[in-house]
Amino acid sequence: MNKQSTKSEKDRPHGQKIEKADLSVDIGPLTLKNPVMAASGVFGYGLELVDFCPPQKLGAIISKGLSLVPWKGNPAPRMAETAGGLLNAIGLENMGVDAFLASALGAVKKTGAVVGVNVLGRTEEDYAVLAEKLGRTEADFIELNVSCPNLASSGGASFGADPVVAARLTEKAVKRAGSKPVVVKLPPLVGDVAALAKKLEEAGATALSLINSLPGLSINLQNRQADLGHGFGGLSGPPIKPLALRQTYLTAQAVKIPVIGVGGILNHLDALEFIAAGATAVQMGVGVLIDPSSPLAVIEGLAEWLTEQNLALSELRGSLKLRA
Ligand SMILES: Cc1cc2nc3c(=O)[nH]c(=O)nc-3n(C[C@H](O)[C@H](O)[C@H](O)COP(=O)(O)O)c2cc1C
Repeated sequence: MNKQSTKSEKDRPHGQKIEKADLSVDIGPLTLKNPVMAASGVFGYGLELVDFCPPQKLGAIISKGLSLVPWKGNPAPRMAETAGGLLNAIGLENMGVDAFLASALGAVKKTGAVVGVNVLGRTEEDYAVLAEKLGRTEADFIELNVSCPNLASSGGASFGADPVVAARLTEKAVKRAGSKPVVVKLPPLVGDVAALAKKLEEAGATALSLINSLPGLSINLQNRQADLGHGFGGLSGPPIKPLALRQTYLTAQAVKIPVIGVGGILNHLDALEFIAAGATAVQMGVGVLIDPSSPLAVIEGLAEWLTEQNLALSELRGSLKLRA
């Protein structure tokens, strides 16, 4: 199980008082200044929220999902509130990877931010080509969104639904990305998440992030139509946190590579729960939409809580004890 710590954490002599918590974490070869990331899809291409949340203050920011060619996305309405959560069917609208590389990446990197680029494809080869392109850029890491429908498979199940397909896709992307770290973002509903995670680790993933939003539907009884133009959407926010925590725990128990927990994190206590479940870092989605400066409050809250508790991040990580 994943119990890695940063260098400074390893050096703490037993029992010594922590004056100021060290929030730095390692994701493969990358050392992040803190474990809080903006999740894909809520932080635009990196600079849209700069006045509320300077990207360089976060551990990392992840771009909106990018494809080889621009995607138009789904008809409006694209978002609907549900009890405590958010249903969205943006349809992965994006400018395409080439436009992002030409117009956005350099500007975000100039702020000093650590930038992960989230990618999506219609075929396995799409992911490999995207990884190769991004491998040659100043992006800090690539995040593969394997929740997209696989157009080559019968029924269009997601790439992540089949561990063999997901592992093959990951292996090819890792090879083509050169030395660039590759994070694989898992779908929320998989039969055996521990088995999938192990396969992706063997395939060379640098880290695993989870979970993506859950499939859902919300209905307008007046006109008996779906609230979203697309019909179905992806559910995010506090209602998915218990599932995300479970999947994070099971994944962190199964692999040695870092696990990045995502799902319903609004404040530092939510983030601490993910770390106790075994996450090395966390991502915030809907939390950023509710309050774009909330990741900064989470970072501050983590440092204060750990200092008060006299706990190093590595000591909290994976410390959850499940009652038998
Ligand atoms: C509006 C919106 C757009 C999203 N777009 C993407 C995307 O492009 N790629 C991706 O992997 N996840 C995308 N997600 C999923 C989030 O990154 C995250 O996994 C999910 O919302 C769960 O986290 P949360 O409960 O903190 O929002 C999106 C979520 C929202 C709300």
